Amino acid sequence: MLILGIESSCDETGVALVDASAAATQAGVPRLLAHALHSQIAMHQAYGGVVPELASRDHIRRVLPLSTEVLNRAGRTLAEVDLVAFTRGPGLAGALLVGAGVAVAMGAALGKPVLGIHHLEGHLLSPFLSADPPEFPFVALLVSGGHTQLMRVDGVGRYELLGETIDDAAGEAFDKSAKLLGLGYPGGPALSRLAGQGDATAHKLPRPLLHSGDLDFSFAGLKTAVLTTVKKQLAQHDVGTVAQLPPHVVADVAASTQAAIVEVLVKKSLAAVAQSGLKRLVVAGGVGANSLLRQQLNAGCAARGVRVHYPELDLCTDNGAMIALAAGMRVLAGLLPASGETISYRFDV
Ligand code: KG4
Ligand code: ZN
Repeated sequence: MLILGIESSCDETGVALVDASAAATQAGVPRLLAHALHSQIAMHQAYGGVVPELASRDHIRRVLPLSTEVLNRAGRTLAEVDLVAFTRGPGLAGALLVGAGVAVAMGAALGKPVLGIHHLEGHLLSPFLSADPPEFPFVALLVSGGHTQLMRVDGVGRYELLGETIDDAAGEAFDKSAKLLGLGYPGGPALSRLAGQGDATAHKLPRPLLHSGDLDFSFAGLKTAVLTTVKKQLAQHDVGTVAQLPPHVVADVAASTQAAIVEVLVKKSLAAVAQSGLKRLVVAGGVGANSLLRQQLNAGCAARGVRVHYPELDLCTDNGAMIALAAGMRVLAGLLPASGETISYRFDV
């Protein structure tokens, strides 16, 4: 049972091949045979963010060569593929259409089923490919550029939303703050690197909804607070742009921003785990690569006897492996194909 997975929701083209046959699987998890990724970061950098039209065009250029590369690396041919999976959303419409179009065409040519996978389900299940995979049930913190959610996960396809952001996502808060600090795109990793050199107690930034008693988040106010802080620093140092500020001043704002975002994520995640009565937390999505978040979650979970699992660092951000994996786990959980339905390519922006 070979599954080819294609991810093209934003600025990475990812393709992967997993084997979901009984001999290759372990505890309902297919084996990853090969995966390949092309990141468009360098292309979008000049514009300070993702340009949707350029993203779509680049996916068109990359998706077939990457598919060939993955099949070659695994020593397999397209004719051997039993199911084609692709990211059906959410994401940029034009970018998603490229992956969907290629997957549906491959499925039609091969006479094999095609399956649209929700992007967040891919992220959510990605820790199953790590050296320390979780077991169901668990609480999941999904933190990406577009989403911030806490979920209770009882099995493949059994997801209960416990709380989510009411405005910006955590990754968006990282990215927008980074932009204000002149750190370019993608902002999260750059802000995190600079924060390592700063004093996180230098500025008191808001921790929105920290004591709201529910499991929701709000990050939109934080970027306004960062903007106010930056303006104050510009006035104090009598300069007009962030680039003219002494580097340690910018690093202090970065560190204070990161501390504010991470504190809220950690406290709410631990509260969700406590409320669920479960002893397992899974963290997934791009912001899950953040080292301060990992440190604080590791410490908080250890103190409470909670196991915490992450995807491997290279599978935290968007990739094809998580899409092929999610499709494989669905097949192994008997969720596919739905009664009488052999092709499922619902498109979902
Ligand atoms: O999951 P992902 O690749 O794409 C979405 O589905 O959105 O997540 C991308 C997000 C971006 O906002 C990026 O800035 C953030 O993850 N990110 C980080 C780090 N690495 C990626 N944020 C904070 N620290 C990091 N090390
Ligand atoms: Zn993503």
